[in-house]
Amino acid sequence: MKASKVFENKDHRWWILHDQQENRVIDSNVYVMESKGQAMLFDPGGFEIFPQVFAALVEAVQPASIQAAFVSHQDPDIASSLPLWHACNPSMQWYIPSLWEGFIRHYGALDAPFRKIPDGGEDILLGGRRLELIPAHYLHASANFHVYDPEAKILFSGDVGAALLPAGHSAWVDRRDPDGKAFAQHIEKARYFHQRWMPSERAKKHWLERVRKLEIDYLCPQHGAIYSGAQVQRFLDWFAELPVGIAVES
Ligand SMILES: [Fe+2]
Ligand SMILES: [Fe+2]
Repeated sequence: MKASKVFENKDHRWWILHDQQENRVIDSNVYVMESKGQAMLFDPGGFEIFPQVFAALVEAVQPASIQAAFVSHQDPDIASSLPLWHACNPSMQWYIPSLWEGFIRHYGALDAPFRKIPDGGEDILLGGRRLELIPAHYLHASANFHVYDPEAKILFSGDVGAALLPAGHSAWVDRRDPDGKAFAQHIEKARYFHQRWMPSERAKKHWLERVRKLEIDYLCPQHGAIYSGAQVQRFLDWFAELPVGIAVES
């Protein structure tokens, strides 16, 4: 696994930790934001890839600077590393969807400090910077949040935008993409994921309405690769047209 910088402006940085090199569990990305020396993890990952995540993390930030972790939903690829991080730093704050508290406690670390995110979302501060925790319910989990950083213009979009890519893949959907060909190739690896794991057309429409109001330079999913520039709009348009919840007809 390696750390690649997504954004940097003075004391404000984002990284993606990607390419986990363990194919028995779904390939996952972990994101890190650092602001004024304080760092936060976004979907810190599964128990099985903790050593790879930690090794990549030290390329980006001092582990002692990690103050908090954000958990978009309850899945094991998101949060089953919780007891390991908690053992490293028992005072780390965990932002978790309120609805999932009793479920996430099943991963262990019963005394880990949880900050419960209400269904309507909320703004939080890290290193003096404001982050918006945006509702993304039913995409795919019934309580689910994304994170918007208005200064970096980054949307951390959890499982939305996810693609199933082979080992060794880039952190980015090819950024030299004037005619959208790289996007068109990439999105075929995202199609089934969205059709099968995303259950609700209504939820999809609500999310699109909300997200289209944001200025986004980088759309950062928890699986696959980052959409940048014009690819962000291409993704939103593609998702708007895609039928989801397909298993009910199978
Ligand atoms: Fe998930
Ligand atoms: Fe996931």
